[in-house]
Formats: sequence, structure tokens, C-alpha cells
Amino acid sequence: MAPFSRLLVAALLLVAATGGGADAGGIYGPAQYDRVFSFGDSLTDTGNSAILPATAGGPFTNAPYAQTHFKRPSGRASDGRLVIDFIVDSLRLPQPTPYLAGSTASEFRQGVNFAVGGATALDMAFLESKGITSFVPVFLTNQTTWFNRVLQILAASPNQQRKIMARSLFYFGEIGFNDYSFALLNLKNKDTVGLAESLVPHIVGVIRSALIDAIAAGARTMVVTGMIPIGCEPELLALLPSSRANYYDQASRCITPFNQLAQLHNRELNRMLSQLRRAHPRTSIRYGDLYNPIVAIVSSPRKYGFGGMPLAACCGGGGGPYNFNFTFFCGTPLSTACADPSRSVSWDGIHFTEAANMFVARNMLRAGLEASQPIQISK
Ligand SMILES: *[C@@H]1O[C@H](CO)[C@@H](O)[C@H](O)[C@H]1NC(C)=O
Ligand SMILES: *[C@@H]1O[C@H](CO)[C@@H](O)[C@H](O)[C@H]1NC(C)=O
Repeated sequence: MAPFSRLLVAALLLVAATGGGADAGGIYGPAQYDRVFSFGDSLTDTGNSAILPATAGGPFTNAPYAQTHFKRPSGRASDGRLVIDFIVDSLRLPQPTPYLAGSTASEFRQGVNFAVGGATALDMAFLESKGITSFVPVFLTNQTTWFNRVLQILAASPNQQRKIMARSLFYFGEIGFNDYSFALLNLKNKDTVGLAESLVPHIVGVIRSALIDAIAAGARTMVVTGMIPIGCEPELLALLPSSRANYYDQASRCITPFNQLAQLHNRELNRMLSQLRRAHPRTSIRYGDLYNPIVAIVSSPRKYGFGGMPLAACCGGGGGPYNFNFTFFCGTPLSTACADPSRSVSWDGIHFTEAANMFVARNMLRAGLEASQPIQISK
């Protein structure tokens, strides 16, 4: 773990030095940030959904969640650390306080994580109007509202607020997966992929609004992560099998139309980010790739140190290539965990293992640092 941390520090120093806006001047580095503000869903949540009444007491608050790193359930949907944890650690910054766990300036000064497991990008009423049912009443606009509240708590004057913003790293974790998966699982609709695709411009639109909000408040450095390969999720593979031609990709065995949806999202997201960079040249806006590293491991698991069943959940039950069945959902009494989660990509059929998160974090940072070069993927 130690060499890895050092590598991340070096990578981030370089990212910061080469990645700034017009006046970056190579002076950014870990010491230039005091804190991280992060947003997203369960891939980034470090404790909010364990507190939110709608989700408190969920399976992720039970063992064996967190068994690899934190040793007792930490509110994270993994066996250990998330991508955001590796980024925070590599910058040697304090762990951001989950928004719902804090209320005072001293709790929020070290950074705040607004991400909530189950959060959607779009609000419930909009999803409802499309015939899509969501379950957790938190959307990206809630998280932006919370952020504005925190900013007021941290500093009263706009001038002080801008100073805080300038010394903060903004991490916009993946958001939208829940919207898409609720659409794909909506079996009353004949064209669920079309329904999910129709959400793309709306989801990219709310992400854009959140970014513009942060930039307006004075954010200078942002990492915006894209969509995961939705078609490689054990949950969706198990629940939505098909014998249609070309449904499964030959190399990865993931569901092709779902991965195409994720690629569409990522293309639209990157198009929007390019526009924002042009409009705000003093803000450094990095894209964090969650797609290619995961597809790479799933297609060639052994090459990257993973085991031979990359589409099977480590924790869960039911067997088969996906080992996913809600009756045996990880953290519920009938579930079991595999012997070595570091050889698995998926922890519980929906969320990644710490090993996969580490791989993604490392590649995200390296991609940021060599933005113009092909991504070298290694474990
Ligand atoms: C999110 O925002 C909506 C209004 O836009 C509100 O009804 C809901 O209560 C908020 N959720 C939380 C958890 O604060
Ligand atoms: C899940 O497991 C239950 C209990 O063994 C079984 O009855 C059910 O058919 C399984 N579901 C699927 C989709 O395999």
C-alpha cells in the first residue's frame, strides 16, 4: 500500500502542476488544497446513507462490508476504500465529513462529502414523469443546496468564501447510474434502453448546473468522473439476461447496449466539460474515467491480478457466473463473501471491491497526468 500512496502523491503533484488554468504556474500540489468537497452516489458515499432515514440500517451497514480496510461497517458500499478515499489519502488531506454527520464549521472545515448511496441525478418528480420509480429522495440538486449551506456555515463574507473555494478540490463522483438502472429495470416499458438514453441530456444538464454552481462560488480545481460500464454490473447481468444476438460483448461478456448507454453518457459529459473549460479557462476541470479501467479488468482479469470470474459478485450468493440474487444480497443473513475480495471486481453485485477502486483511482490520476497520452493500465 505504501508505494501506491507515494505514487499517487507524485501523480497528483504532477496533475496539479500541469493541469491548472491560465495561472497555474506549476505551483499547485497537495499543500495547495486544504480539503475535498465531493458529490455523487454510493460509489462516493462515505457515511451519509447510513444516517439518512430512507436508507439507514441497509445491508451495507452490516458485516462483511468494510472487512478489508475499516474492519467494521463504515457506511461505504465496498469491502474497503472507495476511489475518493484513495484520492483524499494521496493528497494527505483529512477525511471529509459526511454532510449528514456534521453541522458546525469545525466539522466542515476539513472537507465535506455530500454523496448519498441511492441518490439519483434527476429529481424524483421528473423520473416519475418518465414512468421511473426511484427510492432515495436525494438528487444532485439536494447536494448542491447542501454545499451552499456549508459554504455559508464556513464563512460569512463572499471574499472569505472564495478563498475557501480556491483551496478546495472538488470531486464530482459518478452520478446517474441509479437513474439509468431504474430505467433499465422498468419492465413495464418495452424499450428500456431508449428510455434510459432519453435521460442522458437531462443528467448531463444537472451535472453541468452543479459544476457551474461550484465555479460561480469560486471552485478552481475539479475532477468530474464519468459513468461506469453499466453492462458489466452483475446485478443487471443476472436480472436482465437475453438470448438476442450481439447482446453480450465477446471480449468482456458485458451487456453491449448497456455499455453503449454508458459510452453515450461519457461522450455527452465530455462534450459539456470541453465547453465549460472554454468558458472558464481559469478553472482546471479533469475528467475521471471509471469506464475503461473496469472494462479492461473485466476483459483480461488475470493480466491485472484479478481472478477468473470478473462478472461475479464476491459477496452475495446464488452461484453462477454472476453470483447475484437479491435473496442472498451481501450483508443479509443468507449471504456469504468470497475468500479473497482483492481478486474480485464486484463486491456485492452493484459496487466495486477496494481492489477495483484502487485500480480505478490509480488510472484516473495517471490519465489526468498524461492527458494527451494513451492510458497505460497496470495494477
Ligand atoms: C431534496 O430536495 C427536495 C426538493 O427539491 C426535497 O423535497 C427533499 O426533501 C430533499 N431531500 C433531502 C434528503 O433533504
Ligand atoms: C434466487 O434465489 C431464490 C432462493 O433460492 C430462488 O427461489 C430464485 O429463483 C432465485 N432467483 C433467481 C433470479 O435466480
